[in-house]
Amino acid sequence: MANSRNGTIEEWSPSGLPIKPIPGSYGIPIISPIYDRLNYFYFQGHMEYFKSHVTKNSSTVVRMNMVPGQFISRNSNVVAVLDAKSFRVLFDPSKVDKKNTLTGTYIPPLSLYSGIRPMAYLDTTEQLHSSLKSFSFHLLASRKSEFIPSFHKAYSSLFDTVETKLASGPVEFNALNQSAAFDFTCNAFLGAVPSDVIGPSASNKAAIWLLLQLHPVASHLTKFIPWPIEDLLLHCCQLPPFLARSNYEALEEFFSKSGESLLNDAAKKFGLSRDVALHNLIFMTSFNANAGFKNFMPIILKWLTQAGATLHGLLAQEIRSVVQSYNGTITLDALEKMELTKSVVWEALRLDPPVENQFGHARADLIIESHDTAFKVKKGEMICGYQPLAMRDEKVFRNAEEFVADRFVGDHGKKLLDYVYWSNGPETVMPAVGNKQCPGKDMVILVGRLFVADLFLRYDTFSAVHDGMLLGLEPKIVIKSVKKSSNK
Ligand code: HEM
Repeated sequence: MANSRNGTIEEWSPSGLPIKPIPGSYGIPIISPIYDRLNYFYFQGHMEYFKSHVTKNSSTVVRMNMVPGQFISRNSNVVAVLDAKSFRVLFDPSKVDKKNTLTGTYIPPLSLYSGIRPMAYLDTTEQLHSSLKSFSFHLLASRKSEFIPSFHKAYSSLFDTVETKLASGPVEFNALNQSAAFDFTCNAFLGAVPSDVIGPSASNKAAIWLLLQLHPVASHLTKFIPWPIEDLLLHCCQLPPFLARSNYEALEEFFSKSGESLLNDAAKKFGLSRDVALHNLIFMTSFNANAGFKNFMPIILKWLTQAGATLHGLLAQEIRSVVQSYNGTITLDALEKMELTKSVVWEALRLDPPVENQFGHARADLIIESHDTAFKVKKGEMICGYQPLAMRDEKVFRNAEEFVADRFVGDHGKKLLDYVYWSNGPETVMPAVGNKQCPGKDMVILVGRLFVADLFLRYDTFSAVHDGMLLGLEPKIVIKSVKKSSNK
């Protein structure tokens, strides 16, 4: 503590920043959280909602309400961390407790998972977290050689369908991607394709189960429901889990049979009971991975669409020349050589991380630092990060709002990867049993690169429109035309 020049008492953080009270307020109980929710979903949108609080309070660490608020959340008050520096508190397991914080200020009914709490809801201090995380590493390592062939199978078929459908008009990408992403992920992990085993409705079954968990943070379900009705339906009470029961039972049967050898490994190598292993396998595949890829591919297409034919040409050139030097096949090594392709994938993840928010409760009284100020947070307060703003921090990224395709090329570009947070950790850090970073990190990056590489091996260029957001969570992409590769 020290006297400042104007005589008031000031406190300083250990690194020498002035400690100030966190600006912002929670407003009037019940009324303000509802008003804020409407702003977040309908009047401002996610980005403007967070930006407006930053502007109003001239601070990137700010008190505010987070959706869904009344009546699903018990407490919608959060301390939002919205710059590249303060956001990092959420990656420090010694500072934040992430028990039951995956979806923020509410937790879906556990009956959706047959009563167990999946790993993503466990904190690092819970013993089961480390056994399950080790199991996830085992799953990813033991199935790694299947990722590229499974991806090609699902996405070649998707693009065949796009080409056929284009003959009769523009094609919406998202519905096709929903099915391809689920088939790919299950085939990669289990060696079985759900649309073959369960039938063409397999990915819809997973989607309904996802909606039952995520409806409190989703919006714009369909244009036919006026927003006040939708708000009542999606955000005011938890939809009953039985609506997804038969869908989940179909998934359970599929994963039980097709995941037999993984479930045996889970018991023998990681001491997991069959039930815990099964429901976690379903969650990891159908929620963590599948829901991530459902958003991720449209995000890549959105930015490629906006960048246009010049970037498409450069990518096609890079991808085709590398693939040629690998005897015409895409391998992990070949993808590693594609510098521009890699950068494009990271840049898409920087601007539009597929999972926007992270949460955690302060384990003890804490000091959080933004670039120029420090703030005290009390034990138990909920901290909420919004990645799209933290990764558009002008103090770190020049022209942060712009898509710069080669941003991560070269030595300077690689240093910036320390501020790419989509995996719930810096891109320079590896997921581990002791942290909450996404264990699928390497797989996700691989899949992003494969998607871009496959696209430009197949096409010289394409045109599409980005037509708003589906459920407020994934960009809706409508493909208008493709120009087949001139090299074929
Ligand atoms: C585009 C795809 C993906 C994205 C954007 C993504 C993103 C994330 C994020 C942000 C978290 C942290 C959530 C939090 O605690 O707040 C996370 C956790 C997790 N992810 Fe991913 N993920 C993706 C794909 C995958 C894949 C392919 C797997 C495959 C196993 C996976 C498995 C998990 C698991 C198990 C956790 C919980 C980790 C823990 O509790 O320590 N994810 N993911």
